[in-house]
Amino acid sequence: MSSSDQYAVFGNPIRHSKSPEIHAAFAAQSGQDMVYRTHMVEDGLFAESARRFFDNGGKGLNITVPCKVDAFQFADSLSDRARRAGAVNTLAKQEDGTIYGDNTDGAGIVRDMLENLAWEMADRRVLILGAGGAVRGILGPLLVRNPRHIVVANRTVEKARNLAREFSELGEVRGCSYEGLAGSQFDLVINGTSASMMGDLPPLPPELLSETACCYDMMYSAAPTPFMRWAASEAAWAVSDGLGMLVEQAAESFCIWRGIRPNTAPVIEQIRASLNKSTE
Ligand code: ATR
Repeated sequence: MSSSDQYAVFGNPIRHSKSPEIHAAFAAQSGQDMVYRTHMVEDGLFAESARRFFDNGGKGLNITVPCKVDAFQFADSLSDRARRAGAVNTLAKQEDGTIYGDNTDGAGIVRDMLENLAWEMADRRVLILGAGGAVRGILGPLLVRNPRHIVVANRTVEKARNLAREFSELGEVRGCSYEGLAGSQFDLVINGTSASMMGDLPPLPPELLSETACCYDMMYSAAPTPFMRWAASEAAWAVSDGLGMLVEQAAESFCIWRGIRPNTAPVIEQIRASLNKSTE
């Protein structure tokens, strides 16, 4: 076995994960001696596989769908943001051998929107579509950036209302149905549903966007997603997919493991180019 420090991403499916390419780029850039692999987790075997990985000297894991809640339960200690998200996407072995769990997804989207895209958050009217695990992971980090308010809209409205209630101590947030959005306007709309994966779009009323509205899809793909196409057709001021978020959450994980913040801009460019190439 190589003497390099061992890292991996656990999930299912995992074959098309961009994480190995992202972390290899970070490691090369910062001169870190590490390897990063993918690992397909069989149903119900997360804890066993993760235990084996760390017992064999592994230093850290990224966790993706559908194992983020398993990772939350597996960790010996948790960051506040992971506890609030109820999900873990980063595990790190500590010097005393215990496993620390964090969630870098929210930090990743906030950094992409504020630093890379130079979008504003303070005093903006924010709409989030969806109320699943992906949205739970970002609500806290978004609310602490002082938007005027956040509305969470979901097909199953109870899930949106419950989620809003859970986060209400961090700021002005409420849940509603898609029909309930009629007549409201927003400056930032984030798609956190998995509808794009099925080529689908939540039923959104017209005139939802303010004149300077920015639209962000947490999904990414070489071609614009249905949500991005909708945003363009509604004359959104700016539209982005979630590739920057993917690289930024990885950078935050890398920083937890190695104590070094990588330069993300060239890596976002590299991953964008390889994504475009893979669909040529
Ligand atoms: P994730 O962890 O990726 O958030 P999830 O917990 O299964 O996955 O949540 C998926 C989200 O996408 C939910 O908000 C879901 O709405 P429901 O809670 O009503 O199921 C939403 N979603 C999925 N497909 C959708 C579609 N075709 N139209 C609208 N919303 C959709």
